[in-house]
Amino acid sequence: MNSQTTLKEQCIKLPEVKFPENLSLYKAFKKRESKRDMTEKEFTLQEISNLLWAACGINRENGKSTAPLLWKHHVHIASVYGVHKYDAEKNKLNKVLEEDIRSKMAFQDFVNKAPLIIILGVNTDDMKNDWLERLGGKDFYAGNQTSAVSQNIYLYAAAIDISTVAMTWYDKKFVDEKLGFTGGMQSFIIHPIGYGK
Ligand SMILES: Cc1cc2nc3c(=O)[nH]c(=O)nc-3n(C[C@H](O)[C@H](O)[C@H](O)COP(=O)(O)O)c2cc1C
Repeated sequence: MNSQTTLKEQCIKLPEVKFPENLSLYKAFKKRESKRDMTEKEFTLQEISNLLWAACGINRENGKSTAPLLWKHHVHIASVYGVHKYDAEKNKLNKVLEEDIRSKMAFQDFVNKAPLIIILGVNTDDMKNDWLERLGGKDFYAGNQTSAVSQNIYLYAAAIDISTVAMTWYDKKFVDEKLGFTGGMQSFIIHPIGYGK
């Protein structure tokens, strides 16, 4: 049993995924929308575990994901406690930054209040397929993959009545530098998420 309730720690073993009873796929589709009204109420580790698994956790013995991924997806979460990286294989979070960067990440104020901002990234150096440039390039593919993860976040949020929005209008240079991204490692979308007002 994991008694820890916040993201204060450096290394966090998340509780096993356990969705609330009676979640409805129909309700998720029916209620899916971009919602920017967010309170500062923090999520429990159970909620974070569920949310990250819905985004792109591992759902099969072969290690594949709830999202259709051609390459590894890198997921970080920014909170008042700093930034943690999600380890989907071990269902863990590892802190990579002590600083609370939420208020400096984006150009829209509602983001500052979000208890969590999920940062979705792909390392384009992992993309070695020779057809990539012919078919749209690395950023095109990384962006498409990121959209699938984003939609999973939207649907889970809608199913449990919380607010989220996909955002590309954010300070990508600041975020990528703060997270220590080098080479082809880049963020593509951020997702503030919180309880609605
Ligand atoms: C790739 C992408 C980037 C987006 N970036 C932002 C953003 O930076 N800020 C924002 O407020 N909304 C952003 N949105 C949300 C759109 O404004 C929203 O999806 C659109 O208006 C349709 O509304 P709906 O999601 O409620 O159906 C983005 C959506 C997508 C798909």
